[in-house]
Amino acid sequence: MQLPGVLLLSKYIIQGGREINGVIRIGGAKNSVLPIFAATILSGRKSIIHDCPILKDVEIMIDILKVLGCSVKREGHTVIIDTSGYIEYEVPDILVRKMRSSIVLLGALISRVKKAKICFPGGCDIGPRPIDLHLKGLEQLGVKINESHGTIYCEASDLKGADIHLDYPSVGATENILLASVFAKGTTTIRNAAKEPEIGDLQNFLNIIGAKVSGAGTNNIRVEGVKSLNDGEHTIIPDRIVAGTYMAAAASTGGNLELQNINVEHMQPIIAKLKEMGCDIYFKDGSMHITSPKRLRAVDIVRTLPYPGFPTDMQAPIVALLSKAKGTSIMIETVFENRFKHVEDLICMGANIKVDGRIAIIRGRSRLTGANVTARDLRGGAALVLAGLSAEGTTVLDAVEHIDRGYEDIHLHLQQLGADIVRI
Ligand code: EPZ
Repeated sequence: MQLPGVLLLSKYIIQGGREINGVIRIGGAKNSVLPIFAATILSGRKSIIHDCPILKDVEIMIDILKVLGCSVKREGHTVIIDTSGYIEYEVPDILVRKMRSSIVLLGALISRVKKAKICFPGGCDIGPRPIDLHLKGLEQLGVKINESHGTIYCEASDLKGADIHLDYPSVGATENILLASVFAKGTTTIRNAAKEPEIGDLQNFLNIIGAKVSGAGTNNIRVEGVKSLNDGEHTIIPDRIVAGTYMAAAASTGGNLELQNINVEHMQPIIAKLKEMGCDIYFKDGSMHITSPKRLRAVDIVRTLPYPGFPTDMQAPIVALLSKAKGTSIMIETVFENRFKHVEDLICMGANIKVDGRIAIIRGRSRLTGANVTARDLRGGAALVLAGLSAEGTTVLDAVEHIDRGYEDIHLHLQQLGADIVRI
């Protein structure tokens, strides 16, 4: 029963010590679906997107598209989006605050309706999340930007291609500038662009509907402006972070897992680290297999970096694994300012971790014990599930709504793979 005004947060109850074994199919990538949904606004036509995960963040983006005037229909994991109607240029504050990555709508709205109004997304669980690089790039395309009272107003009578150099290979800034340059007159070059696979997926979708984009995955992305776009159909790439998280679940419990629908290339930084920790990983008949040792080895240093470096979204899950590995490891979080919030809860479970700014020193313990812990952000929550799976005794994990943002029914999948985990 939901008490009025009281937000009852769901919990996971996990009995540790069970191996994770079996087969799992990995779904489409959250961080690919979000910018591609925004991109559908550009065409004013119909887009059919397959393998869209059923996640809170994706449903929020669908709500935003509907409020802006798009018609959106979900049929299982396929979403049909028709953006032929009148499109609003104001993104509702309440929805931007619920999901800061809605900022990627800025570039899409500027391209489609030549103006946009959106509130500053503000910080989130893992850091201040500025958008200075987004705005600097958009201004170079000729966008007039005014900021007042926490709101950004953009006008762009005519967008002109530009040669833009990003001070940092920001994923969101690359996506926003890319979306704003599709109709810009002439050529746009984005230098020091983010190389994450999700950028490549966005490029592929844009080209399917008639844009002229090349270079995604390299340092420089080139866009030739076009006049209009068409209908399109696209299947989202598999989620490399969800895949890495399930691999870590097997590794944390000494289990053996087969993962289907994997893009091996995208998984390389994660595969390398798990092999270094003692896992055996091989690819056979289109599936990836991981077999884990009884106890993982520590690694001297793990440094999170932009792709193709080790992904920051896997930092928390790997810290959970290293908490029980043999030896001492150092984790350096170079991407976000405040992404060690899961450490205090791991310490409750017996982990020996010292954090100093962006550095965590992890002295592996032979055992962790179940405890009452709380998810404080999406990937930190997932890390605590992994710790609970391998801890002795019962772990009660609060605020699992954080985890719903990025993992579809993770407790049901883990149950099918042998875990003793229930959601209440
Ligand atoms: C995307 O966030 C992902 N989100 C994040 O995944 C991911 O961790 C991140 O890229 C890095 O890979 C989505 O794709 C929806 P950034 P984004 O811009 O675009 C600084 C998850 O768990 N920066 O590459 O916000 C920024 O402060 C989420 O799925 C500026 O300084 O990442 C950060 O320190 C979490 N100015 C760094 O760059 C700017 O204008 C990386 O941010 C933009 C960014």
